[in-house]
Amino acid sequence: MKQFDIVTIFPGIFSAKGGPASGGDSCCYFDYGIMRQAIKKKLIKINIHDLRKSTTDKHHTVDDRPYGGGPGMILMVEPIVKMLKSIKKKKKTRVIMLAPEGKKFDQRQAERLAKYDQLILLCGRYEGFDARVEKYIDEKVSIGDYVLAGGELAAMVVTEAVARHVPGVVGHEHALDDETFSHDLDYIEYPQYSRPESYKGQKVPKILLSGNHAEIKKWRQSKRKKRK
Ligand code: ADE
Repeated sequence: MKQFDIVTIFPGIFSAKGGPASGGDSCCYFDYGIMRQAIKKKLIKINIHDLRKSTTDKHHTVDDRPYGGGPGMILMVEPIVKMLKSIKKKKKTRVIMLAPEGKKFDQRQAERLAKYDQLILLCGRYEGFDARVEKYIDEKVSIGDYVLAGGELAAMVVTEAVARHVPGVVGHEHALDDETFSHDLDYIEYPQYSRPESYKGQKVPKILLSGNHAEIKKWRQSKRKKRK
């Protein structure tokens, strides 16, 4: 089983604990579709860790003002290091900080990260982390060249893209290595149609109704386009 440990100050954004996938009834992203199935089948495990639980003061402080002045707040080093120590490590673990300045995430990165038994995903907020946190992480990952309010959406994106590489998570009909569903992202897939056969003058190509699978395959191949 592959394990994802997500560290956040907003655990309510996720609901791996308490949602239908784990027997409860509060819903969130991972409680739907293939992620829900993957959790139910115990192919993956997603633990959500509330950073505030690793604080030592009575106010559960996780952030403070930056030394030297400047806007915003910084996530403090101590709760993060305490949290990292408390998360039980598997054999092959990678500690990842989600940050816009990190290495750009793509399908290749998802495949690479899928080789670990456990990913610990640190979600930033505010103006980021105290720089001393860097000593405790393996890498920084960005999901794109834009700045989000925090790392939570990025952690969800990374978790799902990596989970799809865990054997059994993606069902037969979408098999990753199915030649009709090639993951060569340099190509745009052929167009697909479902009922009705005719919609406001737009008809489903006749070939797809022919039952001739060899010809259908040829047609689909001819419709794949190189991405710009
Ligand atoms: N946190 C804020 N923006 C982010 C991004 N683009 N990728 C990863 N983490 C982030």
